[in-house]
Amino acid sequence: MAVRTILRMGHPVLARPSEPVTVFDTPALHGLVADLFDTMVANQGAGLAAPQIGVALRVVVFGVRVPQQDPERDEIPFTVLVNPVLEPQGTESDEAWEGCLSIPGMRGVVPRYTHLRYSAFDIRGVSIRGEATGFHARLAQHECDHLDGILYPYRIRDLRLFGFTDALSLQAPSES
Ligand code: NI
Repeated sequence: MAVRTILRMGHPVLARPSEPVTVFDTPALHGLVADLFDTMVANQGAGLAAPQIGVALRVVVFGVRVPQQDPERDEIPFTVLVNPVLEPQGTESDEAWEGCLSIPGMRGVVPRYTHLRYSAFDIRGVSIRGEATGFHARLAQHECDHLDGILYPYRIRDLRLFGFTDALSLQAPSES
């Protein structure tokens, strides 16, 4: 498969809702998911959504592998969600730095729900359900926002907490 070009903020495909997948287990869908993972990994990202590579379908991938010498970070299983629906559990949220491969070199502090359940389909059309907390939940919300044409800066409450990573001199989280 292939590492694809990532669209940057300003491209119209990133700013509009994507369409649900209606036919599963096709070579095109398998190819899309493989390209999403290849592109995510090649860019050291934690997640990627189909519209970021110019495909306006409701498909996201995410996952974080943590080296054994870095036990501070949460390992997140490599996951494919097709037509995902997120259900926040309770109203609790927190704020943390995020980046996005479509907005390279920048970071911002974004509020997200801390606990959610999700339902989706896998690549073969089998219904799946899951639960996520903390960074895992944040990542799922960031990626699923892409499917609705929402980029993280739209959710920033205090734009003073938005800027170029090298100027902010913070510990950079993964882009997604
Ligand atoms: Ni992103």
